[in-house]
Formats: sequence, C-alpha cells, structure tokens
Amino acid sequence: MIALLYKDILKEMDMNSQILNLEDLPEDFTTSALYENAGMDESFNTFRNLMKNTQKMVFIVPEYNGSFPGVLKAFIDGLIFPDTFTDKKCALVGISSGIQGAGLALSHLTDIFNYCGMNVLAQKPKLSRIEENLTENNLSQLYHDLLVEQAEKLIEF
Ligand SMILES: Cc1cc2nc3c(=O)[nH]c(=O)nc-3n(C[C@H](O)[C@H](O)[C@H](O)COP(=O)(O)O)c2cc1C
Repeated sequence: MIALLYKDILKEMDMNSQILNLEDLPEDFTTSALYENAGMDESFNTFRNLMKNTQKMVFIVPEYNGSFPGVLKAFIDGLIFPDTFTDKKCALVGISSGIQGAGLALSHLTDIFNYCGMNVLAQKPKLSRIEENLTENNLSQLYHDLLVEQAEKLIEF
C-alpha cells in the first residue's frame, strides 16, 4: 500500500516509476537463482535485469525482528554485483507495527548498500505504528508529508 501511495506521489511530480514486489519473486529463488545457479532462473532474471537497469530506487522496508526481512537480503544476494549498485542512488522508507519505524533496519540496509557502492539518501522516514496511521489507502497527513519531502529530495539527489 505504501509503495502504491509513493508511486502516486512520484506521478504527481511527473516521475514514472515501477513497483517491484518481492511477493512476486519465484518461490524457490533461493535455490534456483543464487550461488552456483546465479543467472540461471529466467523468471528471476527479469527482476535481476530490472534492478541492474534502474538508476534510482525506493525501498519500502517493513521491520522484521528488529531488522529488515530476510527475503530482501536473499534478493540483494541474487543481484548482479557490483553493477546493480555502483554509483546508483536510493531512498529508504521504514515501516513497523511498533515504535521504531524500522530505524535499525534502515541502518543495517544503509551499511549493505554503501558496501555495494550505492548512495543512500540521508532522509529516511520511519513510519512507526503503521496500523494506526494507514487505513484503507488513507495515510496520515504527517506520514504523507514525510514521503513527499523524501520524494522531492530523491529527485534532486
Ligand atoms: C516476521 C515478522 C516480524 C516482525 N517484526 C517486527 C518487529 O521487530 N518490530 C515491529 O515493530 N514490527 C514487526 N513486525 C510487524 C511488521 O513490521 C508490520 O506488520 C509490517 O507492516 C509488515 O509489512 P508486510 O506486510 O509488507 O510484511 C513483524 C512482522 C512479521 C511478519
């Protein structure tokens, strides 16, 4: 839902974007597309190539057990290194049910992306207590404003 809202915000700014939903990855990609099988799963390669050919990205990151979801790390591990990342730019948005807004998750992810050569926008909204702030596609005004502010900065980044 946040990704769709973010897409709308970018559209308002005349920016086209495409959503890559990790739920759409092949279910078996950790065995069919990683390590010695890197590049061999055609359905995973569609996502791999999209990431390689994209210059700016926004990661919408839910907090899982105090960090980011394992599927995201497995996805990153399956991407073409370092060409997917080198000198590219990204923005991170954290989401959580609790009070942290995935702050630590975004720090962990920032370290990984910096290691891979990707620049991370300093402004990282942390959308805590998400269930109280997002209902039926209606995001609270504060959170909406934080996303707009970040999107403006990402375009200039
Ligand atoms: C496996 C798992 C671990 C979670 N761990 C945390 C957590 O450590 N802190 C927190 O505030 N919320 C946690 N949550 C709640 C999620 O951050 C929240 O429900 C989020 O909106 C889930 O996004 P998703 O539906 O895209 O996975 C967890 C949820 C799941 C499924």
